Amino acid sequence: MARIVGGFGISHTPSMGMEYDKGMAKGFDPRWQKWFDGTRAVKAWLEKIRPERLVIVYNDHLNHFDFDAYPTLAIGVAPSFRQADEGWGPRPFPSLVGDVDLGWHLTNRLVRGGYDLTVCQDLAVDHGIYSWFPYLFDTPWDIPIVPLAINMVRHPIPTNERLHGLGKALGEAIRSFPGDQRTVVISTGGMSHQISGARFGIANEALDEFFLSKIKDDVQELVDIPQEEMMRLGGTEASELAIWFSMRGALSDNLVERHRYYTFPAITGCGVIVLEEKAA
Ligand SMILES: [Fe+2]
Repeated sequence: MARIVGGFGISHTPSMGMEYDKGMAKGFDPRWQKWFDGTRAVKAWLEKIRPERLVIVYNDHLNHFDFDAYPTLAIGVAPSFRQADEGWGPRPFPSLVGDVDLGWHLTNRLVRGGYDLTVCQDLAVDHGIYSWFPYLFDTPWDIPIVPLAINMVRHPIPTNERLHGLGKALGEAIRSFPGDQRTVVISTGGMSHQISGARFGIANEALDEFFLSKIKDDVQELVDIPQEEMMRLGGTEASELAIWFSMRGALSDNLVERHRYYTFPAITGCGVIVLEEKAA
């Protein structure tokens, strides 16, 4: 059976990706140098723990889906996932490799377990994954992934409880996949931020730090915070933090925190927390 060896939650932002490209070409802006430095321990952990599969719960930002049909919960089942062009042209990175067998296995388990996923056999992936992925994985990107896309764009968005439950079902589904693949579960959503209206640019660093301090041992405390309250405190797009509950739900309660880092370069709180299964 596949083994979940750990997981991590990580922010994403469009600028995180653009700043990576600029930084690697001619040096990082000091604000982004901090984020780059903060991700080194995650990269080192991944090199040590050697995952063979990644299951990534993220959200699209109207770059693949549009308002004609925006699925609440979707899964990518395809041999590869191309990079979405977000308007500034493709960045110099390959497509992501998909694991079709694991994708169908998770689809069967989750749909039969009450999570009605939209299956995407073509899925273009935006900065939800492409912004942080290059910080942690060197090309060629040959590690197979299964992406799950959560609607965070059009309300109503799925509840905290729903996404935490999805994670638990996902964990069971991964652990029932034949084989012995070392699997890491990742959730990614921007931490506090708001990109529209009069409160554009607000963030709440204390809220982000609080979230990181609670997710390992007191996740239910976070799940119990109404989404409207998270949006009031951290900006409307802080709602993306609900995605992180899926990663936590997929893991056991027998965890070691391997790394935690937070900084606020601009617009969006950038944080990461790495949780390793003790059994791993
Ligand atoms: Fe986002």
